[in-house]
Amino acid sequence: MIDYTEKIPNNVDLGRDRGLQRALEHWQPAYMGWWYDMGPDESHNYDVYLRTAISVEPDGWAQFDYVKMPEYRWGIFLQPRDENRQVNFGMHKGQAAWQEVPGEYRSTLRRVIVTQGDTEPASVEQQRMLGASCPSMYDLRNIFQVNVEEGRHLWAMVYLLHRYFGRDGREEAESLLARRSGDADNPRILGAFNEPTPDWLAFYMFTFFTDRDGKFQLCALAESGFDPLARTCRFMLTEEAHHMFVGETGVTRIIKRTCEVMKENKLEDPAQVRAMGVIDLQTIQRYLNFHYSVTLDLYGSDVSSNAANYFTSGLKGRFRETKLEDDHVLSDSEYSVFEVIGDKIVKKMVPALTALNERLRDDYIEEIADGVARWQRVIDEAGIPFKLTLPHKGFHRAIGNFAGHHISTTGEVLTAEAWKRHEHEWLPSAEDHKFVQSLMTGRVVEPGKFANWIAPPVRGINSKPLDFEYVRFN
Ligand SMILES: [Fe+2]
Ligand SMILES: [Fe+2]
Repeated sequence: MIDYTEKIPNNVDLGRDRGLQRALEHWQPAYMGWWYDMGPDESHNYDVYLRTAISVEPDGWAQFDYVKMPEYRWGIFLQPRDENRQVNFGMHKGQAAWQEVPGEYRSTLRRVIVTQGDTEPASVEQQRMLGASCPSMYDLRNIFQVNVEEGRHLWAMVYLLHRYFGRDGREEAESLLARRSGDADNPRILGAFNEPTPDWLAFYMFTFFTDRDGKFQLCALAESGFDPLARTCRFMLTEEAHHMFVGETGVTRIIKRTCEVMKENKLEDPAQVRAMGVIDLQTIQRYLNFHYSVTLDLYGSDVSSNAANYFTSGLKGRFRETKLEDDHVLSDSEYSVFEVIGDKIVKKMVPALTALNERLRDDYIEEIADGVARWQRVIDEAGIPFKLTLPHKGFHRAIGNFAGHHISTTGEVLTAEAWKRHEHEWLPSAEDHKFVQSLMTGRVVEPGKFANWIAPPVRGINSKPLDFEYVRFN
């Protein structure tokens, strides 16, 4: 028999909770089956230089060592409890934060947790084939780190389901292992998590754009009046930062390498840039447009009564809720959303409570814009006249007020035909994917070596040098 309290590092007193142990004993083998089937391909025997969280203390949450991923210690950690914490928004504002699930919110809360939980294994599934085309050992280690931590995030949500939702929770936990990204019959819940991540440019874009959606959702749930959810999400956020770092620096390094080659060879024409074996900036822009637009959809409808209910009930707050200076009830305030009327995009004021999805999306866009500006600096410093831009919020949207409309990257309302004529300027084509993948036909794994299409990072992981053996293949 496995000693789960030993095997599962935790600060939830797992050793004393028999019911929870039994539930996890059931689920753990199914999880391992999922990892062997859907975790990173052919990786199971590698020794990977990974960080493992073994406690929430500053010195315990990032222990670095070689680990075989199936032996990774997926732990359950909640940020320590603050006895004085209250529900900080909505109709229950001022009550003591809930330590058990309020009966009337049981199914809503379960749905919120399942939706978050579903994204975690989904991204592992989306990324599982990328090891075979990694640009370096450093990058291979980073994708594995992201993957094991998404696995831990799944554990975090499953812990809540098992501990607080009884039989329904156990069934949901099983379903989290049964759905598959992109599967026609049993797909993952949210759209962006069913899109393929076919190459490393897509992977870096995904971790920059879509893991950042994860951050904003976690931030909103970290405000929840249901204290165990809030504390779980707070700890997950410490890990999420590394995922976004991998994405942002990955794209930075690709841009840097492209700019170097363009400058050295005095090239501007994308075809000539491609001929040098690096990714042209136009293709990077198209990937950006795609990942940005599908990620914006994850926030849901601009006007949403569900979002209003989540807030009013105290289940899901706003980004940095407790730092905002207003009444935290929002019964009288308004917020602006966009609507497409005829061939115009018009601004409209709606009750702020109903526009909380849109507000979280706007907070996200602000942070994204800063990151894109940092990418732009690399291009500017190389003296190359190219501007990376964020497309209009309405571009290529499938959910909310822009769904069903054909909005250009600069925000014009077009006919379907006119939009279609520009599609290949705006979104990656099959030909673009083919080109990008033609650069990534094999893996580069000699320590300290990097594929031609990407610059080395500024520094290694955990102060190790760039030529450190981050993965041992055995
Ligand atoms: Fe995650
Ligand atoms: Fe993540």
